[in-house]
Amino acid sequence: MEISMKFKTADSNSQGIAVESEVAPLSFTRTDAFNELEQLIGLKQVKRNIAEVTAFSLIQKQRSHKQLKVCPTALHAVFKGNPGTGKTTVARILGKIFHDIGILTKGHLVEAERADLVGEYIGHTAQKTKEFIKKSPGGILFVDEAYTLAQGGEKDFGKEAVATLVKSMEDNRDNIIIILAGYCREMDEFLNSNPGLRSRFPVQIDFADYDREELFHIALQMYKERDYELSNKCRWRLKSKLEEFAKSRHPHSGNARYVRNMVEKSIRLQALRIVDREYLTRRDLMIIEEADLP
Ligand SMILES: Nc1ncnc2c1ncn2[C@@H]1O[C@H](COP(=O)(O)OP(=O)(O)OP(=O)(O)O)[C@@H](O)[C@H]1O
Ligand SMILES: [Mg+2]
Repeated sequence: MEISMKFKTADSNSQGIAVESEVAPLSFTRTDAFNELEQLIGLKQVKRNIAEVTAFSLIQKQRSHKQLKVCPTALHAVFKGNPGTGKTTVARILGKIFHDIGILTKGHLVEAERADLVGEYIGHTAQKTKEFIKKSPGGILFVDEAYTLAQGGEKDFGKEAVATLVKSMEDNRDNIIIILAGYCREMDEFLNSNPGLRSRFPVQIDFADYDREELFHIALQMYKERDYELSNKCRWRLKSKLEEFAKSRHPHSGNARYVRNMVEKSIRLQALRIVDREYLTRRDLMIIEEADLP
């Protein structure tokens, strides 16, 4: 998708709130952050959803400059998917995209999970949650495994954390984006258990498991980024290993995270294989052999 338009660049004032300065041409599809998103393997639907949300935000800004009615731009999102499907990676890139186009003044990602937000006694939870919210203005507050906030029963303080988050969304209307992330089914249950939440998090993005081709390409990309190459035999071995993995995997077995662990382990095994050699060529240092695959 190619969207190109004239747009005002954003600076931030002393409170970190976006203020417009001079007009400069900008197409978000040409920003570095958008390229980074494009370079992720697969995730076709995710990329499309992000493009949609970004285009929407830009157009609403343009409309407001022309004194047209603006649809309320609630950009709070739910990212649903199994572990290792790229949720955190995409959230971090989204922060950068929103920063580049002037929706967020900083674009940083603040990661929180249940233990960061929920306290042990009355009043502790609101205090802990507020501390995280304080770190977030101008960026994204990313709550991982958010459904655990609703899993402790009636007396659990998780509910208080949710209420504090919702309150902060209303108080900081334009300057924080909250993303709730977690496994599909659990997140659906969580949203169903709290009807107010669904409408407050209008952007819902599903992260599918990677298929075997995607897993293979993710592995190749990871080696390349790290300046490693695979021998031909190793390539075949890796391919069949990942096919096996894709066929027999458990939903929580890690997707791209499994691939990353394997890549990193093989790099350590290669080091062990060659470390005692007297002389190492540049190629020796780069090549991963079949025997290096864990
Ligand atoms: N599409 C992709 N292309 C390349 N690398 C990817 C892709 N998706 C994920 N990765 C890599 O896989 C690793 C795990 O991804 P990430 O941490 O974003 O997953 P996650 O969905 O947040 O997982 P979790 O639920 O376990 O936190 C990261 O190193 C990331 O760079
Ligand atoms: Mg994550």
